[in-house]
Amino acid sequence: MTKSRDDEQDPKRSGHDPGRRKFLKGVGIAGAGAAITDHLWTEADAKETQATQNTVSGETKIVLDVNGQKRTVQVEPRTTLLNALRNNLEPAVTGPKLVCDMGTCGACTVLLDGKPAYSCLVLAVDAANKKITTAEGLGTPENPNAVQAAFVEHDALMCGFCTPGFVTTISAYLKKNPNPSLAEVREACKGNFCRCGTYPRVFEAALAAAKASQA
Ligand code: FES
Ligand code: FES
Repeated sequence: MTKSRDDEQDPKRSGHDPGRRKFLKGVGIAGAGAAITDHLWTEADAKETQATQNTVSGETKIVLDVNGQKRTVQVEPRTTLLNALRNNLEPAVTGPKLVCDMGTCGACTVLLDGKPAYSCLVLAVDAANKKITTAEGLGTPENPNAVQAAFVEHDALMCGFCTPGFVTTISAYLKKNPNPSLAEVREACKGNFCRCGTYPRVFEAALAAAKASQA
């Protein structure tokens, strides 16, 4: 039977209570930020968000700034940004993928104010005052950004589940470091996993994108 959106968000109905949810409840988003690698959305960012966030209960309407568009969406306080994007927005934004749902794989990576973040570890309400960029916001099939174009050219994907996360992470990293070494690219990608093992081509594509951007 296919799980409904609500089932996916309701631990009782889905039959599991992911550790991540207890984790978020227990330590809050600041702790979650600390658990992510240092190039991601930082603990300081999270604390700043916490300081400005009012208490929310029940369903609430929030406005998310997604890829330059203001999108109104109804969420619960516990709704993650990943779920809000994929399941609550209409039409959905499905670039960020749900794989581990616990902050270990990077498939759900989005940019929050330009910094990579695991959207499965961010509450939607905490993202309401941030600029959210997903792989869709980086380029289009007709007009891909340099990283997207390099992924295609270098065949840097197999199943593609990890790809939007890598593309997003690398696109943000090349803005910070336009001429990275292979070691630096590997380090920048340490929060993204590829179960198909396409790492060599992913890194090759990242270096090619850097080169292309400088040409
Ligand atoms: S789905 Fe968010 S890190 Fe894996
Ligand atoms: S291409 Fe399949 S997980 Fe990376």
